[in-house]
Amino acid sequence: MPTTEETPIVSPVGRDTPRVDGPRKVSGLAQYTSDFRFPGMLYAVPVEATIANGRVVKLDTAAAEKMPGVRAIFHRENIGKIFRSVLEPGFESVCEERRPPFEDDVIRYYGQYIALAVADTFETAKAAADAVRATYAKDKPNVENDLKADDDPDVVATTFGPYARLESQRGDAKGAFANAPVKLDQTYVTPAETHNPLELHATTAIWDGSTLTMYESSQGVVNQQGVLAQMFGLPKENVRVITKFVGSGFGSKLWPWTQCPLAAAAARQLGKPVKLVLSRKMMFQSVGHRARTQQRVRLGATPDGKLVSLQHDYVYHRSMLEAHHEDCGEATPFQYSVPNLRVTFGRARRNVGATTDMRGPGRTPGLYAIESAMNELADQLKIDPVKLRILNEPKIDESLGVPFSSRHLLECFELGAEKFGWSRRSPEVGSMKRDGLTLGWGMAGCSWVAARFSAAASVQLRDDGTARVACATQDIGTGMYTILAQLASQKTGVPLVKVEVALGDTALPEGPLSGGSMATASVVPAVFAAADNAIASLLAVATMTPGSPFENRPPTDLAFEGGRVFVKADGAAKGVPFDDLLRRANLRLVTGSGKSEATIGNPKPKYSTHSFGCHFVEVTWQPEIARLRVSRVVTVIDAGRIINPLAGRNQIEGAVVMGIGMALLEHTTYDPQNGAPINSNLADYVVAVNADVPPIDVHFLDFPDKEINELGARGIGEIGLTGVAAAITAAVHHATGVRVRELPVKIENLLA
Ligand code: MOS
Repeated sequence: MPTTEETPIVSPVGRDTPRVDGPRKVSGLAQYTSDFRFPGMLYAVPVEATIANGRVVKLDTAAAEKMPGVRAIFHRENIGKIFRSVLEPGFESVCEERRPPFEDDVIRYYGQYIALAVADTFETAKAAADAVRATYAKDKPNVENDLKADDDPDVVATTFGPYARLESQRGDAKGAFANAPVKLDQTYVTPAETHNPLELHATTAIWDGSTLTMYESSQGVVNQQGVLAQMFGLPKENVRVITKFVGSGFGSKLWPWTQCPLAAAAARQLGKPVKLVLSRKMMFQSVGHRARTQQRVRLGATPDGKLVSLQHDYVYHRSMLEAHHEDCGEATPFQYSVPNLRVTFGRARRNVGATTDMRGPGRTPGLYAIESAMNELADQLKIDPVKLRILNEPKIDESLGVPFSSRHLLECFELGAEKFGWSRRSPEVGSMKRDGLTLGWGMAGCSWVAARFSAAASVQLRDDGTARVACATQDIGTGMYTILAQLASQKTGVPLVKVEVALGDTALPEGPLSGGSMATASVVPAVFAAADNAIASLLAVATMTPGSPFENRPPTDLAFEGGRVFVKADGAAKGVPFDDLLRRANLRLVTGSGKSEATIGNPKPKYSTHSFGCHFVEVTWQPEIARLRVSRVVTVIDAGRIINPLAGRNQIEGAVVMGIGMALLEHTTYDPQNGAPINSNLADYVVAVNADVPPIDVHFLDFPDKEINELGARGIGEIGLTGVAAAITAAVHHATGVRVRELPVKIENLLA
């Protein structure tokens, strides 16, 4: 083993770092939720309503109950008490569908659970669920596509509290629009979309007296603990939620859904562990989706391209019960400089399952509309779309009246244009050709909020030269295991391979959601503080241990670097490895705890904190055979310091792939007859796959944002999806002359 003198520690932060959990994943050792097995475990399969509006009149469970191997058929009469849950201060106990399963007989969406079959095997449970017969009083479901705002009050209740429907206003947007020399007034539509993480939602519930343990596929174990504790009337500490690996979530696993209390209630009634894994079809019905949106954008401008008015009025669909706010207007007030602005929203109730956050919630559809409108305005003005954006770059956040902590959108445009070769673009439709193909070039800007959730972590230094870092956050495939290892390694000098990472368990220090692209930014200060405290404890040990070379020195004389303790005056070369000191003191380990506060939700921030970026897209078009392909993408992201560029680029690539799906393929379609999402499988709900995806050239700028944390690292999970669809539809227009304003772009749209 080489010593630290021979191999000086290089900072792991900012270096391409392969995932530390990679070997466990590729060798099959990584345990996803449905991989856990327990003695006596039973299997549960929910019975789904086959109507979307009405009431259950009769439930016939007799045949199902008689099947060999069936333990119970649960329904409203025998599931036992499940309470409602409420939102707690500080984003705690968030849940999109508060109505506990089986609370009443009313059916509000297709696929709502009406019973639960539990059996010794999955196959028996499935057969029993299929054998349950329901009789309904049916009403016609409302799954109408065209959205008109319901007659809601000016301030509406949402998942996160009250929201004013007049979302943002300054100047006189209507007057300025009326008088503007150049006007654009268009409506953009995005369909309902369904998250399709590879891993199905899965939960296994175990009761031990008054203690509930849940193995869960979750983006937020701490949040789920809070919700389930309320639903079962337990102190929080009696609920433990464990999520070791997640096959992604895209927002669908942020908040617990109704299958979680169902599994827990069944386990309570039967006194055995109960596993419940959703089918792909159920994933389209009962675990959230991105709301359909209809967004009217009105831009007023001067002939030389300065915006004078921006109005953004949008409507989205919502379920009969819940109140997720699809905040399409979130970025509108600050993305561009404009003196007169008005953003409003309305909602339209539909017989659909609850809507929820889906990667880049709000801003993804919102920036599709705003960036599309900017591209159309550029064409109308015959100004290059990059130039139009540069002309309207704000100096400060004009909605908050405060500076941006760090905004380098113009540098993104510059680098993106250079890497893409944008200066060679000829603006006329269909004017660019290559190898017999018509080319279309388009671009768009993008942004995503940057902030922190509160977080706690612990760091241990151990007598075998290893370290352990622990935090009850999750790795949803994004690379959190690696980030935590990098952070601990950076501070302690322990090489990555010797850092053990513990996450995904509410028994660990309370960690952040894997959501809002905020987990990484949130854990940095907590882990660093924990490491500092572990090191402080180590220095105290070094001065108090009989026989230690540092015995009786004041700890302030000592320093720690690269895993070694040394006297400041003597320098690091004369240091002693921390594991030597621990062994000499007969200590297995020293531990430090660290905490950091949330920055999100601050009503009076000093800075406006966001990440920015842009996409440049090329499509190829063959009118002879109506073949459209995305052939090239350049994406530049300004997200502060990137802790792991390797995983970071991968995140952005994945988001761009999702953007290609959003622009060209994805839509959840509801059957007007029965209200079912009819393409509820991966054959009919088409997502972008390898064959749809061209080379994606991702670049990060490097402007650390010290307002966010001491490394200057913001988040990158969601920003890469925002803006992609607008860049693609602009490229489609450039190639074909067809302006598609309702996603996804269908080949039929292009056969004008
Ligand atoms: Mo993201 S929609 O916050 O998982």
